Amino acid sequence: MKTFGIMTLNIESEASYINEIAARSHHCGIECFHFLPSSINPLTKLVLGRRFDAKEQCWIDAEFPIPSLIYDRCFYGDDKHSKQCIPIVSWLKSREDIVFLGFGLPNKLELYETLSKSGLAPYLPRSQAITDCREVNDALNRQKKIIIKPINGSQGYGIYYLKKNAKTIHVKTEKNKKIISRIFPNESKLFLWLQTLINYRPYLLQPYLELSNSASQPFDIRILLQKDEHGLWVERGKGIRLGNTGGILSNLSAGGSVIDFTSWASSLSETKREYISNELNFITTNLPKILEQEILPLFEIGIDIGVAKNGALWILDVNSKPGRKVILKTQPDLQETLFLAPLLYGDYLAQTENKERKSYYEKTLYH
Ligand SMILES: Nc1ncnc2c1ncn2[C@@H]1O[C@H](COP(=O)(O)OP(=O)(O)O)[C@@H](O)[C@H]1O
Ligand SMILES: [Mg+2]
Repeated sequence: MKTFGIMTLNIESEASYINEIAARSHHCGIECFHFLPSSINPLTKLVLGRRFDAKEQCWIDAEFPIPSLIYDRCFYGDDKHSKQCIPIVSWLKSREDIVFLGFGLPNKLELYETLSKSGLAPYLPRSQAITDCREVNDALNRQKKIIIKPINGSQGYGIYYLKKNAKTIHVKTEKNKKIISRIFPNESKLFLWLQTLINYRPYLLQPYLELSNSASQPFDIRILLQKDEHGLWVERGKGIRLGNTGGILSNLSAGGSVIDFTSWASSLSETKREYISNELNFITTNLPKILEQEILPLFEIGIDIGVAKNGALWILDVNSKPGRKVILKTQPDLQETLFLAPLLYGDYLAQTENKERKSYYEKTLYH
């Protein structure tokens, strides 16, 4: 039987998703395990984790060899445990006898640099690293409104909107589902705050795009693409994420809500609907191909696409460990497909795995 390991940073993370996958594993001829990277014994190479018992339909604590297929669902933070796990995962990715469903993606800036050399360049908001506060000031003088975000960020954390007024600078962010605004009377006061921020973690800046609806809610299209049991990319579904009125983020973790894509699209004029649908098709057929050609093999991606008032589409973010909330809420009939997908793709990989996929060792630091 093939062994399939779901890897997370803590045992409670994504519990229901992981249980649903495990419950279907036996039917797919797969034995399912769940473990933390830090629970591998470096000497024996055995893992202390849990094995899913198909008969009892429950998890049982166990010690086992590292599973040969790995579904990596580790979300790293700045904490000690994350830092401990990153090199372990890199080591796992470099092993000849272990197959990862997907290898992850580089940070937002590297991703921008890669995609800006591709046919998708027109869909990318111009992004630059912030190495000095003056760059932020120059950008504000040029464009009046900008967004700054952590290069390694995720889930809307630490994102700020900055707007230059005649004398002052307005900074807005969302924290704990609340909108927080602050006015800096001059540049030097802004720089004091900004310097501390960028000292703590690397940031990039982008023009602020007007991506709100008529009710001033920021919104975006979230699309889930996965590989199917034949190793072919398919679009599983898409939905609209709506943020707080007057806010800047459409992330669900920032308090956003979800609406069905079709009902949103039906509120558009036919011309706009058709235009958006063609543009989305162009993005979803090209993006996974480009990412895999230029970076590393993947199993799934979640794409955040902003829609400007003039109908222009912007690729805001690509996630290699996407959530499933938007799709499960708007298309609950996809449940079964989504819970089976990692197993079916893992099974496909186990049968077809070739050496070519393993020629990526040097890039295994992406997560
Ligand atoms: N350049 C931008 N202009 C306007 N809104 C933006 C911009 N970039 C991001 N956003 C908003 O912030 C949200 C989070 O940004 P994103 O780049 O996806 O970061 P994260 O990795 O934290 O999800 C987006 O979904 C969108 O609502
Ligand atoms: Mg995002």
